[in-house]
Formats: sequence, structure tokens, C-alpha cells
Amino acid sequence: MENPVVNDNRLTRDDFVGTLFGAAAFQVLNAGNELGLFKLLNERPGLTADEISEALGLLRRPVDVLLLGATALKLTTMSDGGYRNAELIDAMFGTDEWEIITDLITFEAKFVYAPQGDLVESLRDNTNVGLRRFDGEGTDLYHRLPATPHLEQLFYQCMRSWSRLSNPILVAKADLTGARRVLDVGGGDGVNAIELAKANPDVDFTVLDLPGAVAIAKKKIADNGLTDRIEVAEGDIFADTYPKGYDAVLFANQLVIWSPEENLSLLRKAYDALDDGGRVLIFNVMSDDTGDGPLYAALDNLYFTTITASGSTIYPWGQYERWLTEVGFTKVERLPGDTWTPHGVISGVK
Ligand SMILES: C[S@@+](CC[C@H](N)C(=O)[O-])C[C@H]1O[C@@H](n2cnc3c(N)ncnc32)[C@H](O)[C@@H]1O
Repeated sequence: MENPVVNDNRLTRDDFVGTLFGAAAFQVLNAGNELGLFKLLNERPGLTADEISEALGLLRRPVDVLLLGATALKLTTMSDGGYRNAELIDAMFGTDEWEIITDLITFEAKFVYAPQGDLVESLRDNTNVGLRRFDGEGTDLYHRLPATPHLEQLFYQCMRSWSRLSNPILVAKADLTGARRVLDVGGGDGVNAIELAKANPDVDFTVLDLPGAVAIAKKKIADNGLTDRIEVAEGDIFADTYPKGYDAVLFANQLVIWSPEENLSLLRKAYDALDDGGRVLIFNVMSDDTGDGPLYAALDNLYFTTITASGSTIYPWGQYERWLTEVGFTKVERLPGDTWTPHGVISGVK
């Protein structure tokens, strides 16, 4: 008799506990970050609970709550009464990654956590119901942010960190050989244009975005000494015609925000703006064509589903390829990254 196929993906009770209390798991991570536990243990590994209590200025009961949660989640370890960060956390402190991760945790806590509670309504109504938690006018997050300037500043700071986390993939995979000018559509604070400009000294960039983002981009570009190579343009990526004279049009972390119809219209505008031989580059997080992962894309998708815009979603790779072909691009190529986030580049040629 043949052995039955063993399905290693079966849900375990521990998996189920992690999901049932998933919101609590995030709060432990957030508290450990905000209260300084991970920083403390990175600087002074092996402290006891009493020493942690004194160093953080917290009473023993809350410290015990925090340490129980962090240790059960493997964020910290305990042996002989002394606590340390997980090796992975300490490795993040060893590079500038923890600085990025801190912003990501803050972003999840301040922007995503509460509106994500509107998932049920968002699914029922097939729209971003969580946006109701942001003041201001408009049907997408970006048009509401200016109503709360301190939140807008924090948003772009965190967005920059999301992009810094993943844009080494963009820099490694985006082939700008022979290109002279790149239009970065919805380029935010210029984080990607800045890194691409550093890696491609013969290429100039234009960052096109809404006024709030453009104001921040100007400063970041100047801070990096790239004012002569990266210009900024205020505009609406849907309403305004894209300027001509570009060899490549980049959509970075942009086409996850919009519906299929909106994405097709953006890609058509890019096609019209490019000369023959010009390239379109799409860079963002992708889901698998098989529709079952990866976990990062599946969970990150709730931010897009509940908040950003009515039709936002993390599309599978193949969807972008079909759109590019439908619009008329050829030589469509898929370039996955090789880090822990499922970002990648898809390119096409006019
Ligand atoms: C997810 S962010 C990505 C920013 C940047 N490309 C990056 O990867 O860091 C989306 C950007 O699109 C911009 N955006 C959204 N709607 C826009 C519109 N109608 N016109 C111009 N920019 C827009 C937002 O202001 C924001 O900077």
C-alpha cells in the first residue's frame, strides 16, 4: 500500500493560537519597541527582569507582562534569569535595518492597526471602509493626509522606510542601461529616485507627486546633493498628461493602490508618454500566481484593502504581465527579488 501524502502545511494548534491572538502579538512587538526593551537588551544583553524594570522605568508587573509576551514570541530569549534579544533582532541592530523596522512598527501601530478593524465592513462593501478613521476629504489616503499635517509627515517618514526596506531590489533589478531620463510616477519623497540616481550616474529623474510629497522630496533630494539630477513636478497622476522626453516610466509601490481599470489607465498614459523603445518599470510587493501566499503579501494586503483606496490590492505577478501586454508593451519580464520581502520588478518595452 502506498504511503498517504503528508501535508506539511496543516494548521497546528500553535498556528491557530498565533492567529487567534495575532493582534496581541503585534502589540507585544510594538510595546517592546516603543518602551525600549529591544534597544536596552541590544546594549546590555543578559539583564534580569529587575534590572530591566529599573532601566526602563517600569514596575515589575508590566515588565513581566512584556517579557512573557516577547519571550513566548521568540523576540527575546531567557536563560538563567537573564534576557537577550533574539539573534535576528540583534542582527537588525547591527546594520541600519532596525532604524527601518522601528518605522515599520510605528506605521503598523499608528496607521494600520485600528482601520484594519474595519476589514469585515471593507469586505462586505468591497471598499476601503477603514479610511473613515482619517480626517479630510477624498476617497484615498493620500488626499486625506494633508488634513493632519503631523500625520502626513509621519506617513512619509514611514513610507520612506518601507521603500528603503525593499528598494535595494529595485536598484539591483531595474535595468536603466542606455536610459537618460526616468519619470517616477507617484514617486513620494524621492526615496527610490535618489537610490537609482546614485546607482546610475548617467540617468536623471523627475519625481511626479501631490504637493505634500513633492515638498518633502525637494528637501530629501537637496540633502543628498542631487538637485541637479532629480527634479520634482507637482501633478495628478490620473488627471495630468505625463510629460514627454523620458526613456523610462517607473511606478514604484503605486499599482497596488488602484483598481484594475485605474492601473490600465496609468499604464496607457505611460505608454503614450514613452518613445518607441522606452521602458516601463513596475516595482512593488507581489502575490503568488497560485493565490496562496506568500504570508507577507497576504497580511500586508489588509492595509491596502481597508485603507488606501477603494480598489487597492496586492496583485499576483501574472496580472501585471497581462496588463502590460494588453496596453501594448512587449518583452515583458519578471524580476523577483531575493530577500525576505516579496518585492520585484516587472518591465516592458514600448
Ligand atoms: C505608496 S506611495 C509610494 C511612494 C514612492 N513611489 C515609494 O515607493 O516610496 C504612493 C504615492 O503616490 C502618490 N499619489 C497618490 N495619488 C496620487 C495622485 N492622484 N497624483 C499624484 N500622486 C499621487 C502619493 O502621494 C504617494 O506619494
